[in-house]
Amino acid sequence: MAEVRRTVIELLGQLGSSREARQYLKQFSRIEESRFAVVKVGGAVLQEDIDELAAALAFLHRLGLTPIVLHGAGPQLDEAMAEAGVPVRKHDGLRVTTEAVMAVARPVIYRANATLVDALEARGVRARGILHGVFNARLADPENLGLVGQIDSVELDPVRSAVGAGALPVVACLGESPGGQVMNINADIATRELVWTVRPYKVIFLTGTGGLLDQNGRIISAISISGDYEHLIAQDWVHSGMQLKLAQIKDMLERLPPETSVSITSASKLTRELFTHTGAGTLIRRGERIDW
Ligand code: ARG
Repeated sequence: MAEVRRTVIELLGQLGSSREARQYLKQFSRIEESRFAVVKVGGAVLQEDIDELAAALAFLHRLGLTPIVLHGAGPQLDEAMAEAGVPVRKHDGLRVTTEAVMAVARPVIYRANATLVDALEARGVRARGILHGVFNARLADPENLGLVGQIDSVELDPVRSAVGAGALPVVACLGESPGGQVMNINADIATRELVWTVRPYKVIFLTGTGGLLDQNGRIISAISISGDYEHLIAQDWVHSGMQLKLAQIKDMLERLPPETSVSITSASKLTRELFTHTGAGTLIRRGERIDW
């Protein structure tokens, strides 16, 4: 308890207004432990920002909050494939996963997972790498995609048992068939399915840019799907990547409780995003219009 109090004081010191931060901490602590947040970490963040990432997650953990972390390993995999001389092929935006690709991918994904678990444990945070047993899958389109999985169901027991033991669950994007065939799962699809099953209060995407950018390269502070979405995707400066991201988030939010919000931010801004009103990143909600 003394530990938590020290952490809160440190947090308040970092953030300026203590009332604001305390209010958010109370709000987040009210939610059932395993439903506070799902945090999707891109592979690039693991590569480039691991210290900030581990520090930000360790901080939440010391406050008594246990986010569920899900990570990709895209850039790591591209590098390893180049080294192994295996060409990268995409089909409908998904990584074609032949047996040769899977042979390269599996250890790369295990290593990415261990990197984060180790970084957390080095900071005294209990963490549990979960490589298998969460995403029950079948082959999505074996002819064109090889060992790419389509998720049939999500098993939360391994995640809940980690949270129950006070360990941060760090989940990799691998699925298995009932017979044990390991499959590659696209990280955005895995995030969506995990989020739909967990129904968390916050969905957090940690990226390098730390938010969605407007035409001047500035981070858009907030977007309401009902108020801003149509207008926003019609803008000519909204490129296809951002359109896709917004459409995916809209889709995700439509099947979640109305109080759930999505934050896109960076590892170093996560604390500020969560514990201040103005945040630091892009907040996306389903509901009321928010000026941005
Ligand atoms: N701290 C609050 C939250 O995480 C509000 C964040 C506001 N963020 C923003 N980019 N406008 O839910």
